[in-house]
Amino acid sequence: MCGIVGYIGNNEKKSILINGLRELEYRGYDSAGISVLAEGNLNIFKAVGKIINLERKCESFSSSGFGVGIGHTRWATHGKPTETNAHPHFGKFSNVVHNGIIENYQSIKDMLIKKGYNFISQTDTEVIVHLFESMLESSITPLEAFTKTINELKGAYAILLITQKAPNEIFYAKNGSPLIIGKGQDGIYFSSSDTPLIGLATEVCYLKDGDFGVMDLDGFAKLGDIKELSGDKLSSQKDGFTFFMEKEIYEQHKVLLETMMGRVGDDGFFLEELSNIDLSNIKSIRLCACGTSYHAALAGSYMLERIAKISTKVEIASEFRYKEPILDENELFISISQSGETADTLEAVKLAKKAKLKTISICNVDNSSIVRESDASLLTRAGIEKGVASTKAFATQVMVLWILSCYLAQKRFSFAEVKGQVQIMLNAIKLTEVNKKMHEKIKRLSRRYLHGHGFFFIGRDIFYPLALEGALKLKEISYLHAEGYPSGEMKHGPIALADSGLFCVALMPKNLMYDKIKSNVEELSARDAMICALSSEYYEGCDDWIEVCDSSHYMEEFFSMMIALQIFALEIAIRLGNDVDMPRNLAKSVTVE
Ligand code: F6R
Repeated sequence: MCGIVGYIGNNEKKSILINGLRELEYRGYDSAGISVLAEGNLNIFKAVGKIINLERKCESFSSSGFGVGIGHTRWATHGKPTETNAHPHFGKFSNVVHNGIIENYQSIKDMLIKKGYNFISQTDTEVIVHLFESMLESSITPLEAFTKTINELKGAYAILLITQKAPNEIFYAKNGSPLIIGKGQDGIYFSSSDTPLIGLATEVCYLKDGDFGVMDLDGFAKLGDIKELSGDKLSSQKDGFTFFMEKEIYEQHKVLLETMMGRVGDDGFFLEELSNIDLSNIKSIRLCACGTSYHAALAGSYMLERIAKISTKVEIASEFRYKEPILDENELFISISQSGETADTLEAVKLAKKAKLKTISICNVDNSSIVRESDASLLTRAGIEKGVASTKAFATQVMVLWILSCYLAQKRFSFAEVKGQVQIMLNAIKLTEVNKKMHEKIKRLSRRYLHGHGFFFIGRDIFYPLALEGALKLKEISYLHAEGYPSGEMKHGPIALADSGLFCVALMPKNLMYDKIKSNVEELSARDAMICALSSEYYEGCDDWIEVCDSSHYMEEFFSMMIALQIFALEIAIRLGNDVDMPRNLAKSVTVE
């Protein structure tokens, strides 16, 4: 999704902006642009496609001395991904970048057109810069004009604006989309996430909804709630892997241990983060999320009911928001989000809070909007996930939900009830260490799965959400049609698609209803579907076998099959020549509804 950067200072502005945009590439984008205001001149550059195209465009440009600059990666919402629609948008003497959606842009545009303003793009953003310049006509200062502009806007936004009328300053506003201001030795930085700020800023302020103002080189100290920024760049590099996604698959065994750290011990489950929440009256749980996080939520519902014995419902956030849900104060609301910025999930949390439910978020990004909105948060500790297709974030979300299920069971019953889960968790994590032989085998197999008319990933019980996730991974990066289905449902309709052109990836855990799923697979095999079985025991009815480690608990099988499915998607996408880390049409952080 769109990303924003900004800089005020004496260093080379072009490179700071472009490097910052590169750090935001993982969010997904289809065009990019920067503009620099130095020595009274505004210079603007835009390009469609990758950042390298933008770099080529401004190759011969450099700016020395003090100046301000703004940059943007755009993920098209209003208007096609063209150079004209790319940000920054410009008026006569000002430039603007914007992340989010201006809902009332059409009425503002109509009003400005009547006043004689010309629009060249199809975007909602362009109204901001013209509105600002029109407000200046009746204002004493640029800040007054900017304030009036912001007061007119409805919707979600993070905005940076620079103008020749105030050449030392950047005007900013935040409502619903993330925006951070940082201060470092060499100046002031703006960004829509921490990543571009690491190594540059030492202190940051995470703006709140409704914050807006103007910033110059000396203004940072006046911002409230300043925090130290820590972190190093190493974790965001590829460590010798060709793709971030591959690196992230391989590091799951490490980050899962991080997730457990301090929370799981021989003497109990500890979730300090929940100490301020009274969970004694909780009668049921509602989990809410989007995409992969929704699949983790579904997996969580099996564990919460089975281990903690609490009735649990699961909701897709975009549906939940508008269904006029009946909410009970004794229900615990748990949102799950890797980024913590997903607009639908964030709004769902606000809705639950309004209905006086206790809210917990399971999130990978501290200080993100969802974390800040929730009463308490359980961080997944996966580290920065750069591959757009989520892998380690999913694994850690499932792990947190597992720990939470045990923690609640311990509270309701006793630690003795769930003590056995500790060793199963450790075994499961061990099995996420990628077995190179299995990877090689899947790589070879992948060549047989490039055609056909589609995939069904099937599983039962908690392996059903895993089947959904396996199918989502494949479709996201291979662009092949794939669906996840509960194995027992196939005969109620989808089996009509079974023929020799159908691929069926069957999740066949030895420790959970093996015979039942075997019968379901046989039904498909009898209709000539090509069966790829994931199991520890060889199943003679399969065409291909991906062998997972023999284990004694189905959760161990869950985590080893998760790895196999991620690699399966990865290898097919690589063979098809796709951009694994930045698949088409997708964004890492979906900040519009
Ligand atoms: C898929 C994927 C998406 C996200 C979804 C929600 O690989 O990453 O489906 O899971 O957009 O995002 P978060 O978890 O950031 O709320």
